[in-house]
Formats: sequence, C-alpha cells, structure tokens
Amino acid sequence: MGSQFLSPNTNKRTDKYGGGQRGRARFLIEVIKGIKNELGRDFLVSCRINGSDFMDGGMDFMDGGMTFVDAQEAAQALLESGVDVLNVSAGVYGSYPSIVPPSVEPQGCFVELAENIKKVVPVPVITVGRIKTPELAEKILAEKKTDFVALGRALIADPDWVQKTFAGKEADIRPCIGCNQGCIDSINAGREEGLTCTINPWAGREFKLAFKKVENKDKVVVVGGGPAGLNAAWVMAKRGYQVTLVEEQEKLGGQLRLAAIPPGKAEFREAIDYFINKVQTAGVETILGKRADVSLHIPTKTGDTITKRTPSLFWYLWLFTNFSFRKGVPLFLQVYGEKSCLFSSVCGFLSRLLAGSKINIA
Ligand SMILES: Cc1cc2nc3c(=O)[nH]c(=O)nc-3n(C[C@H](O)[C@H](O)[C@H](O)COP(=O)(O)O)c2cc1C
Ligand code: SF4
Repeated sequence: MGSQFLSPNTNKRTDKYGGGQRGRARFLIEVIKGIKNELGRDFLVSCRINGSDFMDGGMDFMDGGMTFVDAQEAAQALLESGVDVLNVSAGVYGSYPSIVPPSVEPQGCFVELAENIKKVVPVPVITVGRIKTPELAEKILAEKKTDFVALGRALIADPDWVQKTFAGKEADIRPCIGCNQGCIDSINAGREEGLTCTINPWAGREFKLAFKKVENKDKVVVVGGGPAGLNAAWVMAKRGYQVTLVEEQEKLGGQLRLAAIPPGKAEFREAIDYFINKVQTAGVETILGKRADVSLHIPTKTGDTITKRTPSLFWYLWLFTNFSFRKGVPLFLQVYGEKSCLFSSVCGFLSRLLAGSKINIA
C-alpha cells in the first residue's frame, strides 16, 4: 500500500496524500512516524521502497515515464519520517516478474537502483535482487554501491549461505537458479505446500525431513540421475546407506540439462553441478549409460525378495520425476524390503507391490 501511495502510476489523488512527491510520501511518513512514536526513536525502522516501478508513468527510469530523479525524491521525502534504513527493491504487481526477478535477469539487477538512491540520502541503503554468490555481494559492498546487501531466494535455496561463506565453503552453497517455481509461484498458485524450492527439498519442511543417520549400511539403488535422483543419492549416502546411482544416459542431470538450454536458463546448469559434486563427495557409486533393469548386474544376494510388508528392515526410496513433481513436491515413498534390491521401472514396481505380489531379484 505504501508503494501504491508513493507511485505516480497508482496515486492519482489530488488531496494532501497525492499531488507531488511530498504528498505521495505523506502516507508512509505518517506510518513510520507512528511506529517511531510507539516504539521510541532508538527503535530502528527500515523501509522498503521501489527504485523503479517498471511501469509507464510510475517511478520508472526505464521508459520515459517518471525518472531516476523521482525515486530519489521519494527517498528524500521519506527522510522526514526519521526512517533509519532504506531497502530498495523494484516492481509492482502490474510489472510482476520484476518483483521477483527470474533467471533471465542479470545477477544484482537492482544494484543500480539502490545506488541511485544512496547518492542522495544520508541513511544506509540496502540492495536486493539476484545476489546469489558471496563474490557478488562482496563486490557490491567493496565498490560502495550500497551499504548492505539483502538475500531473498538465495536463502531459501540454501539457508546456510552465510555460515558457509564465513566458513570458506562457498563452493558448497546450493545455488538459487531463479526459476521461481518452488517459491513465489507456489505461493501465488495457492498450493497447499506453500513455500517450497525446486532444488532444496527441505525448504518449508525442515523439521519433517530431518536428516537422520542410519545404523545399518544397507544397499540402495537409485534409478535416474536427474535432480531428484542426484539429491536422493547423496542424502541417502550421507545418512549411511551404500548407494548406487544408475543413469540411462551418459551424463547426469536428467531433464535439467535440457532446461538449461534456452536463453536465460544457463544457471540451471549450476544446480546439476552442485548435485553432481554432492554425489561424488558423498561416495555414491555411479553407473552411467546403463538402463536399470534386470539385465544390469548390481551385486546383491540372489534370491533377495522385497514385498510390501517384509518386516525385517526398511529404507526410503525417493522417487525421481525431475521437475514434474506432484504439486511441486517430490514423491516420497517408504518401501519395506530386505538388504538390497533392483527395480526395472518405478511404475511397474509400485503397481506390483500394491497388487501384493512379491518381486524376486535375479
Ligand atoms: C516467496 C517470496 C515472497 C516475497 N514476499 C515479499 C514481500 O512480502 N514483500 C516484498 O517487498 N518483497 C517480497 N519478495 C521479494 C523479495 O523480498 C526480494 O526483493 C526479491 O525476491 C528479489 O531478491 P532475491 O533475488 O534475493 O530473491 C518475496 C520474494 C519471494 C521469493
Ligand atoms: S524455487 Fe528455489 S531455486 Fe527456484 S527461484 Fe525459488 S528459491 Fe530459487
């Protein structure tokens, strides 16, 4: 609402809450003053404002509507409120993709907008928008373009981003690929799961998907080296299983490799590289160029049998449907079985289990 008051694109009022920039800023000024009055002058208030609406006739320096100067004037007008920090983002619902810029936008895409405002205000300024790597964050700060950087989706993809950076483990940061599918699109679509992340299965389910070590080093075969198969393989290896990953293609990555081909989608490749690195460092045995059917020999005890209700041991099989997850959530199955097993096809396997039949391993 504050943004709507501030923008000439949406604020057509002619009373004291409209007119010039000072009038359009009045609503926000009163809100911030109200907060300060309630909580005291020492209580720091940060206000997020647009460096550009990306709308014709908004605070948009792009299309000759309003100008860079309008965003500066809006920021200066707000100073009267006693605001302590300005957090500069961009876009309104009318220019929707710009609010949460996808992978087609350059990394650090709003730095210029924040820098523009920093030039004319004495308070610290924050920039946000596709800041994915510690290197970029460091560069922005070192060049004094802004005083702080903010991370949104980078922290959804990897909540340990900051800790890994401090620990010098930048290469281990799970990269946000700017797909928007799991996070903002999931929320906008009103999906039951709410916020998720296509490359971070724990996002929003941190406690449900606890990372528990297992005592028995049972063998597990993961069929399919797409993103979910790769993720499942290293997670199970880290949990203590002996994991063999079988991929029919000569390369790992599954359909994510195709997804990385269109212009502006190259960052999808980073996710593949991340998962491959995790699989390798977790000690997963990888078999490429082989179809996982009964002709593929994976050492197992001849005669091992798995059934729907074999009581002795159980382990998890994560099923891999690349990005066509049901409602964006990987299908997660519990399969009860003995020490090791082999599948010819997930669907065939499931339907036979559900039918109650035993599956003998050759
Ligand atoms: C799931 C989600 C919810 C968001 N909600 C808000 C919001 O309520 N208010 C807001 O100003 N920005 C919101 N944003 C935008 C982010 O704060 C941020 O400006 C934007 O995602 C660009 O930064 P990033 O590339 O680091 O994610 C949201 C973004 C996401 C992904
Ligand atoms: S779903 Fe995950 S990877 Fe995709 S944009 Fe959102 S945070 Fe980034």
